[in-house]
Amino acid sequence: MGRLDGKVALITGGARGLGAEGAQAMAREGAKVLITDILDAVGEQTAQGIRDAGGQASYVHQDTTEESHWPAAIRAAVDTFGGLDILVNNAGIEIVKTLADTTMEDLQRISAINEHGVYMGIKYAVDPMTERGGGSIINLSSVAGMQGFLGLTAYCMSKGAVRLLTKAAAVELARMGTKIRVNSVHPGVIQTTMGQRLFERYVDYGLAEDYADAEAKFTERHSIGRLGRPEDVANLFVFLASDESSFITGEEHVIDGGLISD
Ligand SMILES: NC(=O)c1ccc[n+]([C@@H]2O[C@H](COP(=O)([O-])OP(=O)(O)OC[C@H]3O[C@@H](n4cnc5c(N)ncnc54)[C@H](O)[C@@H]3O)[C@@H](O)[C@H]2O)c1
Repeated sequence: MGRLDGKVALITGGARGLGAEGAQAMAREGAKVLITDILDAVGEQTAQGIRDAGGQASYVHQDTTEESHWPAAIRAAVDTFGGLDILVNNAGIEIVKTLADTTMEDLQRISAINEHGVYMGIKYAVDPMTERGGGSIINLSSVAGMQGFLGLTAYCMSKGAVRLLTKAAAVELARMGTKIRVNSVHPGVIQTTMGQRLFERYVDYGLAEDYADAEAKFTERHSIGRLGRPEDVANLFVFLASDESSFITGEEHVIDGGLISD
């Protein structure tokens, strides 16, 4: 028996990184997984890899900032796999710039993906999940949604919004009797493309001598003594998606190896 047998999951930004690892972990636990992304070739490969390993997965193109893509992606999950039980609002970007260097264009772009995309995901998941008698929505925030970091003002702002959006949606959807739970996940630095780019940008900004120095500085702050691995976060996705977490909603789940601030 898989922990997610009979459930259907939609994972945005699932072509690579945390989304891809989460898709693989959920499929191993019996979920049928629809991966969406803007990186079509990589997304198709990730879905194929899951099928090759005996899981059920499909890929469709979705830019989470385009409102018209949301009903289409959800319809794809319902048509392909029969419904929607789990939504992982994982698609996100990071902009590493000081407050002074951040342009209004940067701010609008990061808000569109990291905040508005998540908002639309929740909005469009409500009806199909209600039809199934409930569901679980997992929103990717960050430790940067809970504390400040140098060079991450716009990112912190967007991830802080996800934290409170999660709480507001969780209360409303529970009180309206939908049986839809909404939780946020707050990773520390995880070894993905985004994690690597953070170090590169710290070097560009003169905040670290070189890549190895940036990596060492961030590793040091994770008390457990290593950076996060995608599978660390994927395990949390599985728990929050499963009925094991059925009394948990509106909660912020920090997964950061005991990160300490500057
Ligand atoms: N890696 C970390 O250290 C870390 C830490 C905290 C939070 N997070 C969050 O976790 C999530 C996943 O991060 P990751 O490390 O896997 O990043 P990543 O850059 O490796 O992957 C992000 C994925 O999102 C996709 N994406 C970006 N914009 C999109 C859009 N508009 N529509 C659809 N897909 C889009 C990308 O194509 C990519 O496949 C993000 O929300 C990120 O902010 C990551």
